[in-house]
Amino acid sequence: MVTDPTGPWPTWRDAWSTALYGPGGFFVRSRPADHFRTSVHASALFADAVHELARRADLRTVVDLGAGGGELLRHLHAADQDLHLVGVDLAPRPDDLPAAVGWRADLPEQVDGLVVANEWLDNIPCDVVEADQDGVARTVHVEPSTGAERLGELCTDPWLGRWWPLSEPGTRAEVGSARDAAWSDVVGRLGRGVAVAMDYGHTMDTRPAFGSLTSYQHGREVPPVPDASRDVTAHVAVDSLPADRVVDQRQALGALGISGERPPLDRAHDDPRGYLRALSTATEAAELTARGGLGDFVWVVSARGVPLLL
Ligand SMILES: C[S@@+](CC[C@H](N)C(=O)[O-])C[C@H]1O[C@@H](n2cnc3c(N)ncnc32)[C@H](O)[C@@H]1O
Repeated sequence: MVTDPTGPWPTWRDAWSTALYGPGGFFVRSRPADHFRTSVHASALFADAVHELARRADLRTVVDLGAGGGELLRHLHAADQDLHLVGVDLAPRPDDLPAAVGWRADLPEQVDGLVVANEWLDNIPCDVVEADQDGVARTVHVEPSTGAERLGELCTDPWLGRWWPLSEPGTRAEVGSARDAAWSDVVGRLGRGVAVAMDYGHTMDTRPAFGSLTSYQHGREVPPVPDASRDVTAHVAVDSLPADRVVDQRQALGALGISGERPPLDRAHDDPRGYLRALSTATEAAELTARGGLGDFVWVVSARGVPLLL
């Protein structure tokens, strides 16, 4: 890799931002479900759990931040037409969203309700840094159409030394300060309510040595290139986020009544239809709670004026 601090290539953070959210950007013109599968696509049980959390906290408004194709909102609307539902996304409102569901490009000043952000933080662009041959962290710049990289200026963000110190030449990190600021902004808007970010993440003990920057396109993981043809994502440093509680999705869904436990076999004789229904529910729940899969996702929870229910 060439070291050239004066090169014209943008930083990863700038290129990532333009590729996903600029004019013609990936998320502005395509639906997440066409490229990758999240918990909201996997099963309506995820929406059932969100509904149950709102019910237990006595919250009648649910804001889906980074609502994508609106799948979660559609499930919630079908389950409870009295909920006040709002999708927030930079993408245009999906055509097939029920008229009663609101849609906007940014969060309201204050939210009294439940804010859910499933796989939102991992798409917040951040600086990518790499330790040079002297072990000094430098900001990585990228050529947007090819993904070719070169090292630029020293990274002076104090977040890096505190949360993801680098010293071995060639090791890399995604600087989480942009995500921390984005999530602080969300939590700061809560009046009476709960905010939950669900995402794949790491902590000090589990940081990936070479970072986790990658892309998805039409269901496949592909090399990260900020050319607007694919998403750009990196796992979230969940321990630096503001939070009242952090639990994995397996525990969170279990607490909300969703488990992957199979129905007892003898039910197949007494109630074959009921058994098949229960088996299908258990199969979907198993995907949402799987080790090495969606069950390892982290729920980062903050509550204001309501008890912490997870
Ligand atoms: C990975 S998708 C997740 C979609 C959906 N939550 C799901 O689970 O399928 C991330 C979504 O967040 C949206 N997004 C990212 N940053 C945003 C921002 N600052 N404001 C509003 N939406 C944003 C993107 O447009 C995209 O639709």
